Amino acid sequence: MGPRSLPMTIAADESRPPEDRPWPQHGRERLIYPSPVGWKGTDFVDNEGELLKLLNPKTVFMMGDNPALPRMPERPRLMDFFRCRFGDITVRHLLISAKRALDDGLPEKVVMACLLHDISNGCLVRCDHGYWSAQLVEPYVDPEVAFAVKYHQALRYVPDESVGYAYPESYHAFFGPDYQVPDYLLRDAEYAKNHKWYMTARQMTLYDTYFFDDFPVVVPEELEDVIGRNFREPAEGLGFDGSPSAHMWRTMIWPNNFL
Ligand SMILES: [Fe+2]
Ligand SMILES: [Fe+2]
Repeated sequence: MGPRSLPMTIAADESRPPEDRPWPQHGRERLIYPSPVGWKGTDFVDNEGELLKLLNPKTVFMMGDNPALPRMPERPRLMDFFRCRFGDITVRHLLISAKRALDDGLPEKVVMACLLHDISNGCLVRCDHGYWSAQLVEPYVDPEVAFAVKYHQALRYVPDESVGYAYPESYHAFFGPDYQVPDYLLRDAEYAKNHKWYMTARQMTLYDTYFFDDFPVVVPEELEDVIGRNFREPAEGLGFDGSPSAHMWRTMIWPNNFL
């Protein structure tokens, strides 16, 4: 495949009902320049210069709600991100991991860690996703849940025969059989292994697997009670409460903002 241009513009769907508020930048062509973290090193062609040349009174760089995405409520809650922003595989993976842990009678902290462990993959950043995911949820969950989310990434690479956890077969397929786990992950896994919350993170990794073709579809409502008891939804909505990770939630609300 030859080089691809970045998506240059988005034709706004102005025919959609504005619901309770109008779309921003109404009537103008919105230009999207994707965040470099997603395309550096790929065959996308950096077209920032070209886009800048397209600016005129009828064009703008995308800022605010993108009409091509499902509209978020003004005060978004956790499940709004599952419904309106996260990719299908991430949603299914997180809901099934959590529901299996719940059905097996695991502590709610483990269920919550299962539900949240990969949320950065849904709409933010994949590299070091455990660390990003932990930062996202830290202001809203018990520190033990945030710990499990953060360290699951490193612990996934490290077998623990005492609980029946082996190196994932899927990682051989994903990364190749000769993949070398980087030192920083081995160091962090070692730290986690000696921590009092190790078993919470380790139990989470036991429910962290993608291949459940035979598992029934899980709807978010099935986890509503656990979320209600274990996730502090801010009154202002995620992204607008001034927490240390509010900007990360806003980035998922407006993933195409120019600045
Ligand atoms: Fe993960
Ligand atoms: Fe996962």
